[in-house]
Amino acid sequence: MLGAFTGYSEVPLYQMVDLPPLGDDRGSLVSVEDYAIGFPVKRVYYIFHTKEGVKRGGHAHRRLRQLVVAVTGSCEFILDNGIKRETLKLDSPTEGLVIGPMTWREMQNFSENCVLVVIASENYDESDYIRDYEDFKNMF
Ligand code: TYD
Repeated sequence: MLGAFTGYSEVPLYQMVDLPPLGDDRGSLVSVEDYAIGFPVKRVYYIFHTKEGVKRGGHAHRRLRQLVVAVTGSCEFILDNGIKRETLKLDSPTEGLVIGPMTWREMQNFSENCVLVVIASENYDESDYIRDYEDFKNMF
């Protein structure tokens, strides 16, 4: 029997997906298809030349789902669903971090060469952002 849903503590904070390289003796290539990541792709953006000591993010989204890949370099993600908080390092072009709706994220400790590619389920929409952590906490 399925248990009753008792809140966001039961929803995984994030998921990791393998992005297997299609390598040959010329090098590597990764292809990301929407069926493999669980949502249709509407937007791609990338974050690069992040300055030393800078923190980015600091928001959650109401509906947006994203897959994030550190295609070069590394950075740390702090993820928080209002109940638990975890820090993880993203440092591989063959691993994708999937972040669902209602997950607070902050990024920090960017390596100098870090390039984050973000694949998103929706077009940019400022009204989808929750940019105040207290507002976010009060939504649970
Ligand atoms: P923001 O989401 O604050 O970046 P981060 O979460 O990495 O700290 O976005 C920075 C600016 O870029 C902000 O003015 C909104 C704008 N922006 C777009 O216009 N389109 C986009 O797809 C994204 C992600 C941001």
